[in-house]
Amino acid sequence: MASDILRIFNGNIDRDAELIMRAQDDLDEYVRILIDKRRSEPREDLLTDLIAAEEEGDRLTTEELVTMVEAVIIGGTDTTRNQLGLAISLFAHHPEQWAVLASQPELAPRAVEEVMRYFGAVRATGRYATEDIEYRDVVFPRGTVVFPTMGVANFDDSVFPDPEIFDITREPVGQPQLTFGSGIHYCLGASLARAELQVALPLLARRMPNLRLAGDPEFKPATSGIFGADKLQVSFDAGN
Ligand code: HEM
Repeated sequence: MASDILRIFNGNIDRDAELIMRAQDDLDEYVRILIDKRRSEPREDLLTDLIAAEEEGDRLTTEELVTMVEAVIIGGTDTTRNQLGLAISLFAHHPEQWAVLASQPELAPRAVEEVMRYFGAVRATGRYATEDIEYRDVVFPRGTVVFPTMGVANFDDSVFPDPEIFDITREPVGQPQLTFGSGIHYCLGASLARAELQVALPLLARRMPNLRLAGDPEFKPATSGIFGADKLQVSFDAGN
């Protein structure tokens, strides 16, 4: 469902509109049922807290609640799994780095940052200038749609020395990689995604030694909202 809804960013709306709208309707129904269930049977979870926040005042309308829950579901599923796939394809090209991670699992936090810098699952985002903005002597008139490209900024050699080198032992430079965005819309799930990837990667590195590609991977178009592999076949030896 989440993958189909995110096709909205793929530049094929003419072809995919029906599929996207059907997936959105399915998700709306699923979330409304979920909210109804939690209303009658509260639990100790985020949704119950959000419902309470809604009922205590008019801070969240039901529509806002549905939208927020959907943002977390959509943002929380397709992103991290695509990032994990990209990580695997990257390590398959850099077996020596995979071996380093297997033998030094404590490098997991750095490995995740380096993977996301080098091959992030979100390449760019969109912004709309609500007023005239001047930045580095360039004026963006009100109404301009801008696409800041984090995938390129992550290779800025004034910030990340030797950016073309994939190195999971890279020293932090003060400026984090930008694949989680920045500013007020900075990824709400960044800590969760980091935690998931920091657990998954060293574990897979240990259990899948000698990781290698078993065929050419196929990637979604770079314009996709969430970038990732459409097809990724790998071989590996049995680890422990
Ligand atoms: C590797 C995984 C992930 C990547 C690469 C990623 C990337 C991003 C980026 C780039 C943005 C900002 C978009 C913008 O400024 O236009 C964003 C926002 C967001 N992300 Fe993530 N995300 C990831 C995982 C997650 C997870 C696990 C969740 C939820 C559990 C999540 C929920 C959200 C939400 C709700 C927003 C909107 C925040 C706002 O508009 O204030 N994301 N994410």
